[in-house]
Amino acid sequence: MDKIRLVECEKPLKFTRIGFILAAAGSAVGLGNVWKFPYMTGVNGGGAFVLIYLCTILFIGVSIFMAEVLLGRLGESDSISSFEKTAASHPKLWRKAGFLVITGILVISFYLVVVGWILKYITLSFSALPQTAKASGEVFGNLLSQNIGEQFFYFTVAFLISFAIVAKGVKSGIERLNLWLMPLLIFLLIIMVLYSMSFDGFSRAVEFLFVPDWSKISWKVVLSAIGHAFFTLSIGLTCIATYAASQSKDTNIFRSSLAVAGLDTIIAFLAGLVIFTFIFQFNAEPSAGPGLVFVSLPTLFSNLDLAGNIMAFAFFVTLAFAGFTSSVSMTEPLTLVLTSRFKISRMKALAIIAAIVYILGSFALLSQTKDYKEFATFFGVGSFDILDFLSSSILMPIGGIIIALFIGFFAKRELVENTMKTYMNNTVYNIWLFSIRFIAPIAVLVVMYNLLVEFFSK
Ligand code: PHE
Repeated sequence: MDKIRLVECEKPLKFTRIGFILAAAGSAVGLGNVWKFPYMTGVNGGGAFVLIYLCTILFIGVSIFMAEVLLGRLGESDSISSFEKTAASHPKLWRKAGFLVITGILVISFYLVVVGWILKYITLSFSALPQTAKASGEVFGNLLSQNIGEQFFYFTVAFLISFAIVAKGVKSGIERLNLWLMPLLIFLLIIMVLYSMSFDGFSRAVEFLFVPDWSKISWKVVLSAIGHAFFTLSIGLTCIATYAASQSKDTNIFRSSLAVAGLDTIIAFLAGLVIFTFIFQFNAEPSAGPGLVFVSLPTLFSNLDLAGNIMAFAFFVTLAFAGFTSSVSMTEPLTLVLTSRFKISRMKALAIIAAIVYILGSFALLSQTKDYKEFATFFGVGSFDILDFLSSSILMPIGGIIIALFIGFFAKRELVENTMKTYMNNTVYNIWLFSIRFIAPIAVLVVMYNLLVEFFSK
């Protein structure tokens, strides 16, 4: 019998203890760490952004992560039913919070476009890689703005693989694979960091990442840092709650949350160090945007000749897998709501979701191209950026606050207290409660408020 997943049906599936950690880590660790963190850091000016991101993870992210795990654990059901079942009163009102499951669909739409880019880079690893940052930039730029057919091809492959994994219910196998892939990803990154150390660009990378330049900070940057912390931990859209609904009761909520957040942060920093070393080494632009990784890494690999091609292959394959374990988790909350609340068959639910994702993803893809940009741009912003901003900077932080306030104030008190106190002493429990009741909501709201003020005063 499958040790990780016991039942694969409409009821939440059961995880073993390690199964849950693997699934949650699989969701958290992904392109957010290796692709998005470096590029956001570059766009937002470096160290100060990183510091705010780190503080958000520590003081807000981890607490909300635990709150979300608890929501799933107590509800043992799809997100709507979990809110309904655990609310101390007004269950009908609270089940509306289940709308959060929609966010995952917005995220996966642009996420699969990026997974597509990674797939393309797997194939590139078989040929000579571009040697300079300029040449790398051109390769990526061409893929993005001109080779539309090719981009659609890779996006479609990413889309098909992702939905095939969910449809076939082979997720347990994928998660078990994680047991190997996650260490492999870390191993490759460590080798790459060690190699980076031999370049002058390394010290500049360290400085850029860890020395804050406060002049670069605006409310928008602060919100991006908070948003990215939510994005990288996969919180605020009930992905983690949905996975936690099937965890076994002996999972230590405190420790497993810390383990996932710690692992996720380490991977982001390792990736950041490597990527910025080569950006500075080759005098490329740190604020290049979503293509940053694709400009930096090929130059690293091409320096290593054949070994570089092999490493490039191993790295992009591992990264693609990390992308799939994340994308698979994004569809799970809505799928479970549709199957268990609305009694739609799993295949039908997935077909509906897949159709929406393909359409939104196509817009995201087109918004990056030269010829069809206008077609996929609304109010002057491309669909890719709209989907990203709306989900990471708005919906996930708002979702996070809703979950935090719900568990902090409105869920059945003794259930929350009894469960959490099994894993933490009184002091830690009180700190956690304070964080989800006050720190997280106030911090996020203050930043959003100021951003709005900044926006309207322009
Ligand atoms: N945390 C994932 C990553 O860093 C992305 C993700 C976002 C996954 C939202 C699930 C939900 O790549």
